[in-house]
Amino acid sequence: MKVALFSSKPYDERFFQAENAKHGHEIRYLEAHLSSETAPLAAGSEAVCAFVNDRLDAEVLGILAASGVRLLALRSAGFNHVDLKAAERLGIAVARVPAYSPHAVAEHAVALLLSLNRKIHRAHARVREANFSLHGLVGFDLHGRTVGVVGTGKIGEVFARIMSGFGCHVLAVDKSENATCRAFGVEYVSLEALFRRSDVISLHCPLNQETEHIIDTRALGLMKKGVYLINTGRGGLVDTKALIVALKSQHVGGVCLDVYEEEENLFFEDLSSQIIQDDVFMRLLTFPNVLITAHQGFFTEEALSNIAATTLGNITAFATEKGELHLVLGTR
Ligand code: NAI
Repeated sequence: MKVALFSSKPYDERFFQAENAKHGHEIRYLEAHLSSETAPLAAGSEAVCAFVNDRLDAEVLGILAASGVRLLALRSAGFNHVDLKAAERLGIAVARVPAYSPHAVAEHAVALLLSLNRKIHRAHARVREANFSLHGLVGFDLHGRTVGVVGTGKIGEVFARIMSGFGCHVLAVDKSENATCRAFGVEYVSLEALFRRSDVISLHCPLNQETEHIIDTRALGLMKKGVYLINTGRGGLVDTKALIVALKSQHVGGVCLDVYEEEENLFFEDLSSQIIQDDVFMRLLTFPNVLITAHQGFFTEEALSNIAATTLGNITAFATEKGELHLVLGTR
């Protein structure tokens, strides 16, 4: 199939080229983000391959459909950024990568938590300056703490297991309880109880109408003073302005973010020579107890390789009507 792959980075091209040897698709790697301005670049392609910060609203999908695109192959698990109603109306099938490495994201959430709690990022900077003082670097033992996991799907389960291994008591909230999690000691509670009882809260649910701003002023108010919050899910799960208020009042003790509400204008690009216009994001950066990475939870060799394999597998299955096709919408 002819494929236009948007938001392409050299690492995408490396993993897709290697995997495409088995599929033989004609892939055009386009650095541009997908938007109404860049959508015409897909002309002549039957499939478009998009990533998390590409724009997939009705306008963009309309341009793609008019130029003959029949399949939207997402390189992500999340599909909250796709206007599914518009895709259905326009006859564009939507496929995704349901799981590529839950370990990658869960381990990244743990890495953020350990770094922030034990101030590893600050300690590293100090030692490089020959400043061996420990002032301000006190952390806490995770052993014996209560950790709340919102969403115990593939990633939440791995995160919960790691935290259990650290000797934490794990609380969870999910619409459908995960029997494996229960078996290793996870206690399912109400969302309110999780907020009230947890020392650390980590978000692993999808972003949708129900979960948008699941962390808002009210939720933050229910949490223990000094709570640590980790968001590797989606930026929209957290009301960032409410979070800043809770950080300023020192109600929240630490925040680890791999995602941010307005990240599509920032993440995945080198903006180090530019003036950042997003004052909310810049305020977040000023807190010593906020640690941010730019949506790199998925960024491991294994995950990138699996993303390429499943995405190209989806395209091949769509084209040949054979093999596994992970559809969110549409038919073969
Ligand atoms: P999954 O579908 O396996 O698990 C999601 C879980 O959340 C399910 O068990 C579901 O029942 C639960 N859930 C749904 N609504 C809920 C609610 N209102 N309250 C509590 N739980 C709810 O998904 P997976 O693979 O574990 O991924 C989770 C999220 O992680 C994705 O939706 C995506 O947004 C994010 N993600 C982030 C990445 C990163 O690089 N930072 C990479 C991959 C995914």
